Amino acid sequence: MAEGVYPVPERLLQDGQEKPFIDSLEKYKAMWTESIKHPETFFAKLAKDLLSWSMPFETVQNGSFVDGNVGWFLEGELNAAYNCIDRHAFQHPDKVALIHEGDEPDNVRKFTYDQLLREVCRLANVLRSFDVRKGDTVIIYMPMIPEAVFAMLACARIGAIHSVVFAGFSAESLRDRIRDCGTRLVITADEGRRGGRSIATKFIVDEALQGIDTVERVLVCRRTGAEVNWVQNRDVWYHEEILKARPYCPPMSMNAEDPLFILYTSGSTGTPKGVMHSTAGYLLEAAATVKYVFDCHDEDIFACMADIGWITGHSYIVYGPLALGVTTVLFESTPTYPDPSRFWRIIDQHKITHFYTAPTALRALRRLGDEWVQKWDLSTLRVIGSVGEPINPETWEWYYQKVGQSRCAVVDTYWQTETGSIVISPLPGAVAMKPGSATVPFFGIEPVILDPHTGERLEGDSVSGVLAIAKPWPSMARTLYNNHQRYMDTYFNVYRGYYFTGDGASRDKDGYYWIGGRVDDVINVSGHRLSTAEIESALVAHEAASEAAVIGGHDDLTGQSIHAFCTLKPGVESVEGLEKELILHVRRAIGPFATPKRVYVVHDVPKTRSGKIMRRILRKIVDNEADQIGDTSTLANPHVIQDLIKQLKTHIVA
Ligand code: WTA
Repeated sequence: MAEGVYPVPERLLQDGQEKPFIDSLEKYKAMWTESIKHPETFFAKLAKDLLSWSMPFETVQNGSFVDGNVGWFLEGELNAAYNCIDRHAFQHPDKVALIHEGDEPDNVRKFTYDQLLREVCRLANVLRSFDVRKGDTVIIYMPMIPEAVFAMLACARIGAIHSVVFAGFSAESLRDRIRDCGTRLVITADEGRRGGRSIATKFIVDEALQGIDTVERVLVCRRTGAEVNWVQNRDVWYHEEILKARPYCPPMSMNAEDPLFILYTSGSTGTPKGVMHSTAGYLLEAAATVKYVFDCHDEDIFACMADIGWITGHSYIVYGPLALGVTTVLFESTPTYPDPSRFWRIIDQHKITHFYTAPTALRALRRLGDEWVQKWDLSTLRVIGSVGEPINPETWEWYYQKVGQSRCAVVDTYWQTETGSIVISPLPGAVAMKPGSATVPFFGIEPVILDPHTGERLEGDSVSGVLAIAKPWPSMARTLYNNHQRYMDTYFNVYRGYYFTGDGASRDKDGYYWIGGRVDDVINVSGHRLSTAEIESALVAHEAASEAAVIGGHDDLTGQSIHAFCTLKPGVESVEGLEKELILHVRRAIGPFATPKRVYVVHDVPKTRSGKIMRRILRKIVDNEADQIGDTSTLANPHVIQDLIKQLKTHIVA
């Protein structure tokens, strides 16, 4: 093997182990080629193997990127909750479906498939008693508790479209999302617990609902028992309603293309995009990637550490593992609570075979020292995954050696909210790994590298440009809620005929893909996707601010961090503490995870003659690469560059 290449771990191929589903590169290549050449036969077979249908499909795929009306498994009918629960509950009712690891260690709740069925049915009946119907949207704003999973599946059971909002979002951000999807029901909790601290979840919902008149009911789950504000005729307790409901609710037969959920994500404008996923295509590939990308078998215990408020939690805590009928883990706390051994302790305690987290968490844990990892038994692990941002080779090596103990496959999985499931990743039993590379495409995915300026497809190896996908795949987003034109413009009209990812990438001599990072106005902080425009609009809403420019600076720990340049309104003087106040202002407006690392109050920002802010130059200044700024002759105000460099230097000293 060449240097920097890690072969498929011997352990996965040994006798006595579950044989990998795909155990050689040849097999992967043959299947991938089949999936590209004959997608209809390939996916028809997969869809029959992995999903249960109440009505068979006839047309496997239609529509294209050009007409923007892609559909899969048309005429087919199924129910996502039935696929994730009932069929497994019939087969093995006592198998554990969900392990909830609470905020405090040893605070564990387990639910078998049979119990999951009852919990979800009861809640589905509660939703029906509120007159929630097929096609209605329901907002879920909840901590990482089992009831959040029940809520998603209860919606799916009755054909309602859930929209989970990450519980780290502020009241304002929650309000925007509630307003956008016009929901009548919000499901929430009294409080959340994270890292030993309480979060006033219900209070945030109450604030968010001010000025909203569509919401008729707020269903409140009791997590801590804290006293909460109560709005008569609107708020109801989850535990009380559940007792009134029957334990069985028939699943609604849904068309393959009926929406399963909306998930808001950041784009290059200030308004979040409601990414909408279909029922069958999404569910199929969530399940297929757990099976093939993670090589997950029936008796495995799958632990994805993401939050259900993000797509990773949807696909790899809820829909993927449950559709396959394996045991999934829901983790309420943080990697460092009560100490930095929390992840490793969970793996030991629950005998986890598959572990999935983000590079940011790994970088932070690596810094804290190996002793936290070493004292736990991690021998059950077979496949460990990384997601959300590029993983730097040093962190990859550490993960491979210390966590995987040089015996496990590391899957660096590249994908997006819009792709629904993993699109580029090694397969544990088949593809040799290269630290820092997401490696090869999943079935049905035909990645292409385009010249960013001409849009021309760059053929062959050793090329770099922007990453696009050439053909529709089952789990791709079908539209942006109430904004199909934006869907077309963002993904398909940038490079006609292709799905544009917004990421830069290169392909090496072995045909492996290396993801560079976003080439649009999206930044990635600790694996959280944020739009610079959204932060900018939060800043300019502050009374002192006139104009704001936000960029992602390089950050060793969080990948990128938020740096904001802000000019003040005429006549407003900068005062001590203003920068801090602006930081807090963004935090309040969007949520703690969007807190800028720095806000610089400045006199001016570099602009073109037509008035466009040159963020590229600001990025160079922040990253200490001012010598690489290059030609500034097109700027209207080139002198500001030197002023900013000087000002930032004093900032760093201060
Ligand atoms: C980035 C998260 C490099 C990328 C699943 C993408 C990655 C954005 C990787 C999507 C990876 C995700 N290597 N970059 N393995 N995985 N990204 O929608 O920039 O929250 O466009 O979905 O995360 O973020 P999102």
